[in-house]
Order: sequence, then structure tokens, then C-alpha cells
Amino acid sequence: MHNEKLIRDIVKLKKDRNAVILVHNYQLPEVQDIGDILGDSLGLSREAAKTKAEVVVFCGVHFMAETAALLCPDKKVLIPDPLSGCPMADMITAEQLRAFKKEHPGAPVVTYVNSSAEVKAESDYCCTSANSVQVVNSIEEDTVLFVPDKYLGAYTAQKTGKKLILWDGYCPTHAKILPEHVLAKKNEYPGALVMAHPECRQEVCGLADVVCSTEGFIAHSRKAKNKEIIVATEVGMLYRLKKLIPEKNFIPASEAAVCPNMKKNTLEKVLWSLQDMKTEVKVSDDIRVRAKKAIDRMLTAG
Ligand code: 13P
Ligand code: SF4
Repeated sequence: MHNEKLIRDIVKLKKDRNAVILVHNYQLPEVQDIGDILGDSLGLSREAAKTKAEVVVFCGVHFMAETAALLCPDKKVLIPDPLSGCPMADMITAEQLRAFKKEHPGAPVVTYVNSSAEVKAESDYCCTSANSVQVVNSIEEDTVLFVPDKYLGAYTAQKTGKKLILWDGYCPTHAKILPEHVLAKKNEYPGALVMAHPECRQEVCGLADVVCSTEGFIAHSRKAKNKEIIVATEVGMLYRLKKLIPEKNFIPASEAAVCPNMKKNTLEKVLWSLQDMKTEVKVSDDIRVRAKKAIDRMLTAG
């Protein structure tokens, strides 16, 4: 089916179903183009919490749709491809987190939003890449358990001066961006600003002028005087940046940084999900109530 017909059908069905389409910044360009709201994990969580629509089609990975489901128990949250998981989120289970807490009694737990609802339910605070520093700063204790992203954790420890005990998780996509890639691009574009996502390796973040969430890239690119900007994150971000700020030249730090899961949601799958009202993402009441506490604390702290 051609994209124009698909888009027409999606727009019509979206109205009939009273649905809103939320789209993460790493989604395929054609999926970004049909989004009602685009953003990072924090922005999309906030939008999910306040939407008046009855149905939320979440074009992102599973934990993002699950977070929306946690925040909107009265709405139907659909994910076009239920197999779009996040390998980093799968690097810690609730059972592993319970054992980690036992090893460090008394230390509060901050859990990156890239995690399952069960893991969030075992946590004191949730955070995203946009607010990890504010969330950790809002905590009284100086020693904090941080899961599952060791790189976001290391960056947050450096910024807050607190002792973060890190879980050994990481994003396999951002790990593909190596310091030598950034150095080679800096060599090629000596006047360029370097922006990195905090899921990047510490050495990569160390080479960046700005470290921020995906939505932060937009604000910083708009503010920057530089015409050229090297972007160390998943390549889907470049489509959004080029579309919003066409006068600047965005250069990927590495073309290898492609998240295969983020690319699983296609236009056809968005249409099917609205036609069949599938796949609904649900969270059991017991998990939802406990996980929501950690998310609510995040939404008030950061
Ligand atoms: P953001 O919250 O910065 O959009 O990041 C989400 C993510 O999965 C990055 O890999
Ligand atoms: Fe997970 Fe990394 Fe993909 Fe983000 S880019 S969804 S952290 S695997």
C-alpha cells in the first residue's frame, strides 16, 4: 500500500477511535511524520498522563508504552509492534533488583525509565535521561542504587557528586558509538558542536560539549551558534533535527547507532493497530500502583 493511502486511513481511523499517536524521536521518519506528539521519554510520559484521547497508540519501545499504560489506567494503550523491546530494560529483573537491594540495605533505588513495570515497582524513584540529575539531587541520602544503565548512572554521579552504586546494564545501540568515531568527526568538522546522549560511553560523553536527552538535542541545537553539529545518539534523531532546524548541518557520530527495536513500528502496523485495537499494553493493578509511585516522584522532582 502506498504511504498516502496508509496515512489517509490512519488519520480517519484515529478520529473514529478518538486516538492520539505518540512518537519517540528514534522512530522511522514516516512514523514521525504521522505523530500527533513527538518527544523523549519524559515528554511522552507527561503527554500520556494528560491526554484526553481514549486510545493512545505508542510508537516507541515496549517500556514506553507500558509507562503510558501505568499513567493512564482508564485508556487503551496500543503498541503497533509488541516485539519492539529494549535490550537494556531486559538487563535487570525484579528478582535481581530485590537481591541488589538486599546487598545494600537502606540505599534508595533510582530506576531509569528504560525498565519493566515490575522493576519500577521495586524502586523508590524513576528517572529519564532528561531528569536523572534533578531526581538524584532531590534525594536526601548520599548513596543511591542506580539501575539499569551504568553509563547514565556514571554521568549522573559525576554531575551530582553522590555515590551511585551502578548496575551493569547498558544500551547496545549507544555502545556502538566509540570515542574514535567522535574524534574522527571532530577532525573532519573542526567547528562543530558535539552533543551526546548520556547512554553513550563515558569516554564519548567526555568528548561532548553537551550531554542531554533526545528532546534536549533540539533545544541545544536551536541555541547553538555552530552551523555544524555532531550527534552521538541513535540515528533516528537526525531526521527530527533536520526537519525542525534545516539551516544546520547535523552529522551522525556513527551511522552504526541504529536501534533495531525502534524501527519495528511501521505505518502499516500503526494502521493495523488502530483497525484491530491491538496490541494492548496492560499492567496488573498491584504492579501499577507501586510503579506509579516511583514515576510520580520523578514527575514532581524533575
Ligand atoms: P530519551 O528519553 O532521551 O528520549 O531516551 C530514550 C532512549 O531509549 C534512549 O535510548
Ligand atoms: Fe533501548 Fe538503546 Fe533502543 Fe533506547 S536505543 S530503546 S536504550 S536499545
